[in-house]
Amino acid sequence: MKQRFKIVVCLLLIATLVLPLSAMAQDGGDEEETPRMGFWEECADPANLSGEIPIGVVFGLTGSIAQYGEPQANGVRLAEQEINESGYLGEEATVTFVYEDGGSDRETSIAAFEKLINEGVVAIIGPTLSSQAFGADPLAADAGIPVMGVSNTAAGITTMTGDPELDQFIFRDSLPESGVIPGTVATAVEILGIEDVAILYGNDDDFTASGYEVFVDALEEAGVEILLEETFSRGDVDFSVQLTKIIEQDPDALVVSALIAEAVQIVTQARQAGYDGPIIGGNGFNSPALFTDAGEDANGVIVGAAWNVGNPNELSEAFVEKYTEAYGNPPDQFATQSYVGAWLMATAVRCADSADPADIRDALASIQDFPSPLGLFSFDEDRNPVHDPVVQIVDDGAFAVFDESYANYFD
Ligand code: ALA
Repeated sequence: MKQRFKIVVCLLLIATLVLPLSAMAQDGGDEEETPRMGFWEECADPANLSGEIPIGVVFGLTGSIAQYGEPQANGVRLAEQEINESGYLGEEATVTFVYEDGGSDRETSIAAFEKLINEGVVAIIGPTLSSQAFGADPLAADAGIPVMGVSNTAAGITTMTGDPELDQFIFRDSLPESGVIPGTVATAVEILGIEDVAILYGNDDDFTASGYEVFVDALEEAGVEILLEETFSRGDVDFSVQLTKIIEQDPDALVVSALIAEAVQIVTQARQAGYDGPIIGGNGFNSPALFTDAGEDANGVIVGAAWNVGNPNELSEAFVEKYTEAYGNPPDQFATQSYVGAWLMATAVRCADSADPADIRDALASIQDFPSPLGLFSFDEDRNPVHDPVVQIVDDGAFAVFDESYANYFD
């Protein structure tokens, strides 16, 4: 009897402690709540916003860069839904993202910017490529409309006009190549003992050319010899001449600066030609298309990124879950940066408590330590992002974090 009494008392005690907690969790009433974006303590609830606030979105939804543009649009759509359902802009206002196809070339993005500016958007997110941004962003800056790249990683994006009065309107939340590649090279050298490399890069695109320059500096800094440099142009599909020369040199690693369409072909053709060593890529490689299109050939590609799907960050975990539920596949780095970009723009509107582009610009520039799936996010004084990158390796058809456990991967 005594024993049974103890058990009953214990069960009652457990029920008293646990039931209210689980009830609170279901109500969303305490710290058990699912982490959610926004509602940043740094600014008060808006009081002056009303109506639909239009923000333009320009991504490459067609052509050779749609593999970036589609997840980017999905990231913004998810943010749009969350922002409006949560009443982030107050009871009277919602954000309306106005989507335009920026194509895969510069002219289509310029036309999309012109259309959106004429329609009266208060800010623009995009375009996808750095080469498109160099053509389109000055239009937004001239019109006094803040623009935020969420995938532009070439050098000089936020200072492209050379006029501080105009440049102040240009932001990006995408880490530049210079913020990622040096760490990627240093990590690969440390873990794999790489002493010499060959480089293959696109010399007719702002991003791929910029990535090449950063690679050269980083390799020099790491004491790695460059045996050979080969080039290609956007749209090329046959890399056999360059790869034959490269493989003859027997480099410890192949370094590539390319956008995804060319990256897939280079990886596939390098493996077909018998090269089975490490391939170190720049930001253009950060698409799952790499392993969906190149299959097993992509294994052993090392690439630095702004974000990895396994980030141990509550907001990132919640984002991965919601995105996967909405679209049937997990987000990639491009989707994550566009999702965060949409939240940053909405946060600037909320903090400005105004839909005036100049006020939004000022509020955007003052964002510091904003909790996000990318980690605590800040803009530096040149409106570039400040947060930590991660080094990844494609292993078994997925981006894994590249660490010491891969020291013998290529043996
Ligand atoms: N990171 C690539 C660029 O800047 C997409 O063009």
